[in-house]
Amino acid sequence: MELMEIIKNNAKKNLKKIVLPESLEERTIKAADIILENQIASIILIGEKQEILETAKKYNLKNIEKAQIINPFSNPKKEEYAELMVSIRKKKGLTKSEAYKLLENPLYLATVMIKNGDADGEVAGAANATGDVLRPAFQYVKTLPGISVVSGAFIMIVKDKSFGDNGMLIFADCAVHPNPTAKELAEIAVATAKTTKAIANLEPRVAMLSFSTKGSAKHEFVDKVVEATRIAKEMAPEFKIDGEMQADAAIVEAIGKKKAPDSEIAGRANVLVFPSLETGNIAYKLVQRLANAEAIGPILQGMAAPINDLSRGCSINDIVNLVAITANQAAGL
Ligand code: ACO
Repeated sequence: MELMEIIKNNAKKNLKKIVLPESLEERTIKAADIILENQIASIILIGEKQEILETAKKYNLKNIEKAQIINPFSNPKKEEYAELMVSIRKKKGLTKSEAYKLLENPLYLATVMIKNGDADGEVAGAANATGDVLRPAFQYVKTLPGISVVSGAFIMIVKDKSFGDNGMLIFADCAVHPNPTAKELAEIAVATAKTTKAIANLEPRVAMLSFSTKGSAKHEFVDKVVEATRIAKEMAPEFKIDGEMQADAAIVEAIGKKKAPDSEIAGRANVLVFPSLETGNIAYKLVQRLANAEAIGPILQGMAAPINDLSRGCSINDIVNLVAITANQAAGL
Protein backbone atom coordinates (compact mmCIF):
# COMPACT_ATOMS: atom_id res chain seq x y z
CA MET A 1 0.00 0.00 0.00
CA GLU A 2 1.22 3.54 -0.74
CA LEU A 3 2.54 5.46 2.29
CA MET A 4 -0.22 8.12 2.12
CA GLU A 5 -2.91 5.41 2.12
CA ILE A 6 -1.36 3.84 5.24
CA ILE A 7 -1.24 7.28 6.92
CA LYS A 8 -4.92 7.96 6.06
CA ASN A 9 -5.99 4.52 7.31
CA ASN A 10 -4.14 5.10 10.59
CA ALA A 11 -5.89 8.47 10.97
CA LYS A 12 -9.31 6.83 10.44
CA LYS A 13 -8.63 4.35 13.26
CA ASN A 14 -8.10 7.12 15.82
CA LEU A 15 -10.11 10.23 14.85
CA LYS A 16 -8.30 13.40 15.97
CA LYS A 17 -9.71 16.95 16.14
CA ILE A 18 -7.87 19.05 13.56
CA VAL A 19 -8.53 22.77 13.37
CA LEU A 20 -8.47 24.54 9.99
CA PRO A 21 -8.42 28.28 10.72
CA GLU A 22 -8.58 29.34 7.03
CA SER A 23 -12.16 28.08 6.71
CA LEU A 24 -13.35 30.25 3.84
CA GLU A 25 -10.33 29.57 1.65
CA GLU A 26 -11.63 27.53 -1.32
CA ARG A 27 -9.09 24.65 -1.29
CA THR A 28 -9.30 24.41 2.52
CA ILE A 29 -13.08 24.10 2.71
CA LYS A 30 -13.07 21.61 -0.19
CA ALA A 31 -10.39 19.57 1.60
CA ALA A 32 -12.44 19.72 4.83
CA ASP A 33 -15.40 18.26 2.92
CA ILE A 34 -13.28 15.33 1.64
CA ILE A 35 -11.80 14.70 5.11
CA LEU A 36 -15.26 14.67 6.72
CA GLU A 37 -16.74 12.47 3.99
CA ASN A 38 -13.91 9.92 4.37
CA GLN A 39 -13.76 10.26 8.17
CA ILE A 40 -10.01 10.95 8.21
CA ALA A 41 -10.34 13.42 11.12
CA SER A 42 -12.88 15.48 13.05
CA ILE A 43 -12.70 19.00 11.66
CA ILE A 44 -12.98 22.32 13.49
CA LEU A 45 -13.52 25.36 11.26
CA ILE A 46 -13.05 28.90 12.55
CA GLY A 47 -15.41 31.55 11.27
CA GLU A 48 -18.98 32.73 11.15
CA LYS A 49 -21.28 29.69 10.82
CA GLN A 50 -23.69 31.17 8.27
CA GLU A 51 -20.86 32.37 6.05
CA ILE A 52 -19.09 28.98 6.16
CA LEU A 53 -22.30 27.09 5.35
CA GLU A 54 -23.08 29.47 2.46
CA THR A 55 -19.54 28.98 1.11
CA ALA A 56 -20.03 25.20 1.35
CA LYS A 57 -23.30 25.52 -0.56
CA LYS A 58 -21.66 27.64 -3.25
CA TYR A 59 -19.13 24.82 -3.87
CA ASN A 60 -21.81 22.13 -3.54
CA LEU A 61 -20.11 20.54 -0.49
CA LYS A 62 -22.29 18.08 1.40
CA ASN A 63 -20.30 17.36 4.57
CA ILE A 64 -19.36 20.72 6.08
CA GLU A 65 -22.31 20.60 8.50
CA LYS A 66 -20.48 17.75 10.29
CA ALA A 67 -17.65 20.15 11.23
CA GLN A 68 -17.53 21.95 14.56
CA ILE A 69 -17.65 25.68 13.82
CA ILE A 70 -16.15 28.23 16.22
CA ASN A 71 -16.89 31.93 15.79
CA PRO A 72 -13.82 33.96 16.85
CA PHE A 73 -16.01 36.96 17.75
CA SER A 74 -18.57 35.15 19.92
CA ASN A 75 -16.54 32.24 21.18
CA PRO A 76 -17.95 31.08 24.56
CA LYS A 77 -14.46 30.21 25.85
CA LYS A 78 -13.01 33.65 25.12
CA GLU A 79 -12.50 34.52 28.78
CA GLU A 80 -10.88 31.14 29.60
CA TYR A 81 -8.62 31.38 26.54
CA ALA A 82 -7.60 34.98 27.30
CA GLU A 83 -6.59 33.99 30.82
CA LEU A 84 -4.57 31.07 29.46
CA MET A 85 -2.81 33.37 26.99
CA VAL A 86 -1.93 35.91 29.67
CA SER A 87 -0.62 33.17 31.97
CA ILE A 88 1.68 31.97 29.16
CA ARG A 89 2.92 35.39 28.03
CA LYS A 90 2.68 37.59 31.12
CA LYS A 91 6.47 37.92 31.17
CA LYS A 92 6.31 39.19 27.59
CA GLY A 93 3.86 41.89 28.75
CA LEU A 94 0.65 40.49 27.23
CA THR A 95 -2.47 42.10 28.69
CA LYS A 96 -6.00 40.65 28.82
CA SER A 97 -7.34 43.16 26.30
CA GLU A 98 -4.49 42.31 23.89
CA ALA A 99 -5.33 38.63 24.35
CA TYR A 100 -9.00 39.29 23.47
CA LYS A 101 -7.88 41.05 20.30
CA LEU A 102 -5.48 38.21 19.34
CA LEU A 103 -8.27 35.66 19.83
CA GLU A 104 -10.18 37.29 16.98
CA ASN A 105 -7.35 36.16 14.70
CA PRO A 106 -8.16 32.54 13.67
CA LEU A 107 -4.44 31.61 13.59
CA TYR A 108 -4.06 32.60 17.27
CA LEU A 109 -7.40 31.12 18.31
CA ALA A 110 -6.45 27.77 16.72
CA THR A 111 -3.22 27.48 18.70
CA VAL A 112 -4.88 28.49 21.98
CA MET A 113 -7.62 25.88 21.40
CA ILE A 114 -4.87 23.28 21.04
CA LYS A 115 -3.10 24.51 24.16
CA ASN A 116 -6.39 24.28 26.08
CA GLY A 117 -6.97 20.70 24.91
CA ASP A 118 -9.95 21.58 22.66
CA ALA A 119 -8.17 20.51 19.46
CA ASP A 120 -5.40 18.01 18.72
CA GLY A 121 -3.65 19.71 15.82
CA GLU A 122 -3.80 22.41 13.16
CA VAL A 123 -3.19 22.77 9.44
CA ALA A 124 -2.96 26.26 7.91
CA GLY A 125 -0.94 28.20 5.38
CA ALA A 126 -3.01 28.00 2.18
CA ALA A 127 -3.81 31.68 2.71
CA ASN A 128 -1.13 32.87 5.17
CA ALA A 129 2.68 33.17 5.15
CA THR A 130 4.82 30.65 7.08
CA GLY A 131 5.82 33.18 9.76
CA ASP A 132 2.18 34.12 10.46
CA VAL A 133 1.22 30.47 10.90
CA LEU A 134 4.25 29.54 13.01
CA ARG A 135 4.59 32.53 15.33
CA PRO A 136 1.38 31.84 17.35
CA ALA A 137 2.35 28.17 17.48
CA PHE A 138 5.83 28.96 18.82
CA GLN A 139 4.35 31.35 21.38
CA TYR A 140 1.42 29.31 22.75
CA VAL A 141 1.92 25.63 21.91
CA LYS A 142 5.72 25.77 22.26
CA THR A 143 8.18 22.90 21.86
CA LEU A 144 8.29 19.38 23.31
CA PRO A 145 10.20 18.87 26.57
CA GLY A 146 13.93 18.62 25.81
CA ILE A 147 13.50 20.25 22.38
CA SER A 148 14.03 23.99 21.89
CA VAL A 149 13.67 24.23 18.15
CA VAL A 150 10.95 23.42 15.64
CA SER A 151 12.07 22.09 12.26
CA GLY A 152 10.50 20.75 9.08
CA ALA A 153 11.03 17.31 7.55
CA PHE A 154 10.16 16.02 4.09
CA ILE A 155 9.51 12.40 3.18
CA MET A 156 11.22 12.05 -0.21
CA ILE A 157 10.24 9.15 -2.44
CA VAL A 158 12.71 8.65 -5.30
CA LYS A 159 12.28 6.36 -8.32
CA ASP A 160 15.59 4.50 -7.72
CA LYS A 161 14.58 2.00 -5.05
CA SER A 162 18.22 1.24 -4.12
CA PHE A 163 18.38 4.45 -2.05
CA GLY A 164 17.16 4.75 1.55
CA ASP A 165 14.45 2.21 2.33
CA ASN A 166 13.00 1.12 -0.98
CA GLY A 167 13.46 4.66 -2.37
CA MET A 168 12.16 6.45 0.75
CA LEU A 169 14.35 8.98 2.61
CA ILE A 170 13.59 11.66 5.19
CA PHE A 171 15.26 15.10 4.85
CA ALA A 172 15.44 17.85 7.55
CA ASP A 173 15.48 20.73 8.29
CA CYS A 174 14.09 21.94 4.97
CA ALA A 175 11.57 24.50 6.20
CA VAL A 176 12.04 26.40 9.46
CA HIS A 177 15.25 27.17 11.32
CA PRO A 178 17.82 29.08 9.25
CA ASN A 179 21.08 28.60 11.14
CA PRO A 180 21.00 25.99 13.93
CA THR A 181 23.69 25.73 16.60
CA ALA A 182 25.29 22.31 17.19
CA LYS A 183 22.82 21.64 20.03
CA GLU A 184 19.85 22.67 17.85
CA LEU A 185 21.13 20.54 14.96
CA ALA A 186 21.30 17.57 17.33
CA GLU A 187 17.68 18.22 18.39
CA ILE A 188 16.67 18.36 14.71
CA ALA A 189 18.37 14.98 14.14
CA VAL A 190 16.56 13.35 17.08
CA ALA A 191 13.20 14.88 16.14
CA THR A 192 13.65 13.65 12.55
CA ALA A 193 14.49 10.14 13.74
CA LYS A 194 11.23 10.18 15.73
CA THR A 195 9.23 11.47 12.75
CA THR A 196 10.77 8.70 10.61
CA LYS A 197 9.52 6.06 13.02
CA ALA A 198 6.12 7.62 13.69
CA ILE A 199 5.08 8.75 10.22
CA ALA A 200 7.13 6.79 7.67
CA ASN A 201 7.15 3.69 9.89
CA LEU A 202 10.88 3.10 9.24
CA GLU A 203 13.78 2.36 11.57
CA PRO A 204 15.92 5.53 11.24
CA ARG A 205 19.56 5.45 10.10
CA VAL A 206 20.56 9.08 10.47
CA ALA A 207 23.44 10.73 8.57
CA MET A 208 24.62 14.14 9.77
CA LEU A 209 25.66 15.75 6.49
CA SER A 210 28.63 17.98 5.79
CA PHE A 211 31.17 18.62 3.06
CA SER A 212 33.59 16.41 5.03
CA THR A 213 33.53 12.68 5.88
CA LYS A 214 35.10 11.65 9.18
CA GLY A 215 37.70 14.40 9.30
CA SER A 216 38.49 14.64 5.56
CA ALA A 217 38.16 18.45 5.74
CA LYS A 218 38.81 20.97 8.52
CA HIS A 219 36.50 23.96 8.99
CA GLU A 220 34.33 25.48 11.69
CA PHE A 221 31.22 24.33 9.73
CA VAL A 222 32.52 20.75 9.93
CA ASP A 223 33.21 21.15 13.66
CA LYS A 224 29.56 22.13 14.18
CA VAL A 225 28.32 18.90 12.58
CA VAL A 226 30.85 16.78 14.52
CA GLU A 227 29.63 18.36 17.77
CA ALA A 228 25.96 17.97 16.76
CA THR A 229 26.57 14.27 16.05
CA ARG A 230 28.11 13.80 19.49
CA ILE A 231 25.19 15.56 21.23
CA ALA A 232 22.54 13.71 19.17
CA LYS A 233 24.06 10.32 20.06
CA GLU A 234 24.05 11.33 23.72
CA MET A 235 20.44 12.58 23.54
CA ALA A 236 19.10 9.47 21.83
CA PRO A 237 21.37 6.43 22.17
CA GLU A 238 18.47 4.27 20.95
CA PHE A 239 18.87 5.64 17.41
CA LYS A 240 21.60 4.94 14.84
CA ILE A 241 23.11 8.36 14.19
CA ASP A 242 26.48 9.01 12.56
CA GLY A 243 28.51 11.78 10.98
CA GLU A 244 29.96 13.97 9.88
CA MET A 245 29.64 12.64 6.34
CA GLN A 246 29.17 13.77 2.76
CA ALA A 247 25.93 12.98 0.94
CA ASP A 248 27.51 10.31 -1.29
CA ALA A 249 29.10 8.58 1.72
CA ALA A 250 25.67 8.63 3.38
CA ILE A 251 23.60 7.06 0.59
CA VAL A 252 25.92 5.14 -1.78
CA GLU A 253 27.02 1.81 -0.28
CA ALA A 254 30.39 1.52 -2.07
CA ILE A 255 31.35 5.10 -1.19
CA GLY A 256 30.17 4.73 2.40
CA LYS A 257 32.37 1.63 2.82
CA LYS A 258 35.35 3.47 1.39
CA LYS A 259 35.03 6.80 3.20
CA ALA A 260 33.55 5.65 6.53
CA PRO A 261 34.33 1.92 6.83
CA ASP A 262 33.54 1.79 10.56
CA SER A 263 30.15 3.47 10.30
CA GLU A 264 26.99 1.49 11.00
CA ILE A 265 24.93 3.60 8.64
CA ALA A 266 27.24 5.04 5.97
CA GLY A 267 26.02 4.12 2.50
CA ARG A 268 22.65 3.01 3.92
CA ALA A 269 21.25 6.17 5.50
CA ASN A 270 17.51 6.78 5.22
CA VAL A 271 17.53 10.07 7.19
CA LEU A 272 19.60 13.02 5.96
CA VAL A 273 20.11 15.89 8.40
CA PHE A 274 21.41 19.03 6.68
CA PRO A 275 23.71 21.50 8.45
CA SER A 276 21.50 24.54 7.70
CA LEU A 277 18.12 25.51 6.31
CA GLU A 278 19.80 26.76 3.12
CA THR A 279 21.30 23.37 2.35
CA GLY A 280 18.18 21.42 3.36
CA ASN A 281 15.72 23.56 1.46
CA ILE A 282 17.87 23.65 -1.69
CA ALA A 283 18.56 19.91 -1.55
CA TYR A 284 14.93 18.82 -1.22
CA LYS A 285 13.83 21.07 -4.08
CA LEU A 286 16.65 19.83 -6.36
CA VAL A 287 15.91 16.17 -5.61
CA GLN A 288 12.19 16.80 -6.15
CA ARG A 289 12.79 18.43 -9.56
CA LEU A 290 15.90 16.72 -10.97
CA ALA A 291 15.07 13.21 -9.75
CA ASN A 292 11.32 13.68 -10.20
CA ALA A 293 10.86 12.61 -6.57
CA GLU A 294 7.67 12.87 -4.56
CA ALA A 295 8.12 15.30 -1.62
CA ILE A 296 5.64 14.91 1.26
CA GLY A 297 5.80 17.78 3.76
CA PRO A 298 7.01 19.90 5.34
CA ILE A 299 6.09 17.91 8.44
CA LEU A 300 6.79 20.21 11.37
CA GLN A 301 8.45 18.45 14.28
CA GLY A 302 9.49 19.37 17.79
CA MET A 303 6.25 21.20 18.62
CA ALA A 304 4.32 20.10 21.73
CA ALA A 305 1.27 19.47 19.49
CA PRO A 306 1.26 19.03 15.72
CA ILE A 307 0.82 22.21 13.69
CA ASN A 308 1.63 22.05 10.01
CA ASP A 309 2.15 24.82 7.50
CA LEU A 310 0.97 24.46 3.89
CA SER A 311 2.61 26.06 0.91
CA ARG A 312 0.38 28.81 -0.51
CA GLY A 313 0.53 26.96 -3.84
CA CYS A 314 -0.91 23.78 -2.27
CA SER A 315 -3.61 21.62 -3.86
CA ILE A 316 -6.77 20.29 -2.18
CA ASN A 317 -5.07 16.89 -2.07
CA ASP A 318 -2.01 18.38 -0.31
CA ILE A 319 -4.33 19.70 2.43
CA VAL A 320 -6.10 16.35 2.84
CA ASN A 321 -2.71 14.61 3.07
CA LEU A 322 -1.30 17.09 5.59
CA VAL A 323 -4.40 16.76 7.79
CA ALA A 324 -3.92 12.97 7.78
CA ILE A 325 -0.23 13.38 8.68
CA THR A 326 -1.13 15.85 11.45
CA ALA A 327 -3.68 13.39 12.85
CA ASN A 328 -0.99 10.65 12.86
CA GLN A 329 1.41 12.97 14.68
CA ALA A 330 -1.29 13.75 17.26
CA ALA A 331 -1.93 10.04 17.76
CA GLY A 332 1.84 9.49 18.19
CA LEU A 333 2.06 12.12 20.92
N1 ACO B 1 11.49 26.79 17.03
C1 ACO B 1 10.87 27.17 18.18
N2 ACO B 1 10.61 28.45 18.50
C2 ACO B 1 11.03 29.40 17.63
C3 ACO B 1 11.70 29.08 16.43
C4 ACO B 1 11.93 27.71 16.14
N3 ACO B 1 12.52 27.28 15.01
N4 ACO B 1 11.99 30.24 15.77
C5 ACO B 1 11.50 31.24 16.53
N5 ACO B 1 10.92 30.74 17.65
C6 ACO B 1 10.24 31.48 18.73
C7 ACO B 1 11.12 32.52 19.36
O1 ACO B 1 11.82 31.98 20.45
C8 ACO B 1 10.11 33.55 19.78
O2 ACO B 1 9.47 33.16 20.96
P1 ACO B 1 9.07 34.27 22.07
O3 ACO B 1 8.16 35.24 21.40
O4 ACO B 1 8.37 33.45 23.13
O5 ACO B 1 10.35 34.88 22.52
C9 ACO B 1 9.03 33.50 18.69
O6 ACO B 1 9.16 32.19 18.11
C10 ACO B 1 9.21 34.53 17.62
O7 ACO B 1 10.59 34.52 17.29
P2 ACO B 1 11.27 35.42 16.17
O8 ACO B 1 12.75 35.26 16.25
O9 ACO B 1 10.68 36.80 16.25
O10 ACO B 1 10.83 34.63 14.93
P3 ACO B 1 10.11 35.16 13.65
O11 ACO B 1 8.65 35.12 13.89
O12 ACO B 1 10.76 36.39 13.15
O13 ACO B 1 10.56 33.99 12.65
C11 ACO B 1 10.18 32.10 11.39
C12 ACO B 1 10.20 32.66 12.80
C13 ACO B 1 9.14 32.84 10.57
C14 ACO B 1 9.81 30.64 11.38
C15 ACO B 1 11.61 32.32 10.77
O14 ACO B 1 12.53 31.53 11.43
C16 ACO B 1 11.64 32.04 9.30
O15 ACO B 1 11.25 32.88 8.48
N6 ACO B 1 12.12 30.82 8.92
C17 ACO B 1 12.22 30.45 7.54
C18 ACO B 1 10.90 29.96 7.05
C19 ACO B 1 10.98 29.83 5.58
O16 ACO B 1 10.91 30.80 4.86
N7 ACO B 1 11.17 28.57 5.11
C20 ACO B 1 11.38 28.26 3.74
C21 ACO B 1 10.10 28.12 3.01
S1 ACO B 1 9.19 26.70 3.47
C22 ACO B 1 9.42 25.59 2.20
O17 ACO B 1 10.03 25.84 1.20
C23 ACO B 1 8.84 24.26 2.38
